[in-house]
Amino acid sequence: MKYDICVIGGAGHVGLPLGVAFANANKRTVLLDINKKTLDTIQSGTFPFREEGGDGALKKALKSGTLFMTTDESVISQSKYLIIVIGTPIDKYLNPDFSGLMKILKLHSNHFRDGQVLILRSTVYPGTSHYVQKFFADKKKKVRVVFCPERIVQGYALRELKELPQIIAGFDTKAVRLASNLFKALTKKIVTVSDPMEAELAKLFSNTWRYIKFAVANQFYMIACEQGLNYHQIHNAMTKDYDRNKDLPRPGFAAGPCLFKDTMQLSAFNNNNFFLGHSAMLINEGLPNYIIQQIKHSLRRGNNDRDFKFMTIGILGMAFKAESDDSRDSLSYKLRKIAEIEVNTVICHDVYIKDPSFVSIGELISKSDVIILGTPHKEYLKIKPANYPEKLFIDIWNVWDTKILQIKK
Ligand SMILES: NC(=O)c1ccc[n+]([C@@H]2O[C@H](COP(=O)([O-])OP(=O)(O)OC[C@H]3O[C@@H](n4cnc5c(N)ncnc54)[C@H](O)[C@@H]3O)[C@@H](O)[C@H]2O)c1
Repeated sequence: MKYDICVIGGAGHVGLPLGVAFANANKRTVLLDINKKTLDTIQSGTFPFREEGGDGALKKALKSGTLFMTTDESVISQSKYLIIVIGTPIDKYLNPDFSGLMKILKLHSNHFRDGQVLILRSTVYPGTSHYVQKFFADKKKKVRVVFCPERIVQGYALRELKELPQIIAGFDTKAVRLASNLFKALTKKIVTVSDPMEAELAKLFSNTWRYIKFAVANQFYMIACEQGLNYHQIHNAMTKDYDRNKDLPRPGFAAGPCLFKDTMQLSAFNNNNFFLGHSAMLINEGLPNYIIQQIKHSLRRGNNDRDFKFMTIGILGMAFKAESDDSRDSLSYKLRKIAEIEVNTVICHDVYIKDPSFVSIGELISKSDVIILGTPHKEYLKIKPANYPEKLFIDIWNVWDTKILQIKK
């Protein structure tokens, strides 16, 4: 085989760091992707998105001659291991959308060879590994299917791939052994699970667990706000030197391309009988509207002589999380949409997302009556709200001064 590994979806947020990590572990790795433009950026030695240590690791891999990239799917037949990490979204009715994976199987099935190991790494609807195994069995192809979920936190994959245990589940011991041998190039910690569906659920439960934890924090925040109380003081009282509460997150936007959609995948799997998951969705997705309504009502209560609808709202941070340049499923955009219904003008800034409609931090602060921290990028911590007493700063994350920023009745 010409390549040890072919990463299908190799230009993506999961596929690229994984491919680079394997290439730097001396595995001949080819990135297969339909996005030629991004592959060209990668070929030039630049990571197409923010990734800790990304550029250096990519340049090293390119220099060592172990990293390749292409849009030509015939590389599938020239690779010992195939790792699929394409997106696994939900549709507009919140049901899993299998079209990406089906496309790869149907369009490229003639490229798969007996003896290859096919590693599913995308977060998948439970039962997908069984489906793929059957797909090849029906075609009389001896492709070994293994499920090895990706569990990194986006932006820090190169570090975490070496630190996190790798969950592995396959349909026979040889498949599990072969996949384990591969991942041992990255981590010594391997956790095997006997049924791939258990591993699929382990991944979905993990993301859903996080999503629900964020919802608990956001719900507590809203309960405190309704009483005009400072939630951050409550959080501090609950967690200081009290280990049992340490995992209670702070409030904030629970956004991004994974947590919400994976909670909904789990819900669909359980015949939409998932009260906790749906409640978490209502709380987390409802937070932007809650913030706008709180501002509106608190200004009204304060007999503010200016009509809210003639105000300008500025949103600092449009990425879905701090220090990221990823706008996918960011709740800052939902916040913007709701704000645009309520007020005449909404302006935005992000430290890392380039958008010609965005304004500078200085312009945003000077032109806005209300400034909402959408994403707590470190750069925004330098802003001193106390220097702008005539403006209302809203910070659910509590990175500025809570005494000024708490939304009070
Ligand atoms: N982003 C994360 O932090 C993260 C973490 C863990 C798991 N996951 C899961 O990993 C999977 C991928 O997520 P992502 O964030 O990397 O998505 P992404 O959109 O960044 O990457 C997917 C890549 O697949 C490519 N692609 C799509 N169809 C293709 C095809 N037919 N052939 C070749 N390439 C194709 C796209 O061009 C893109 O580059 C999802 O299932 C996600 O839930 C993501």
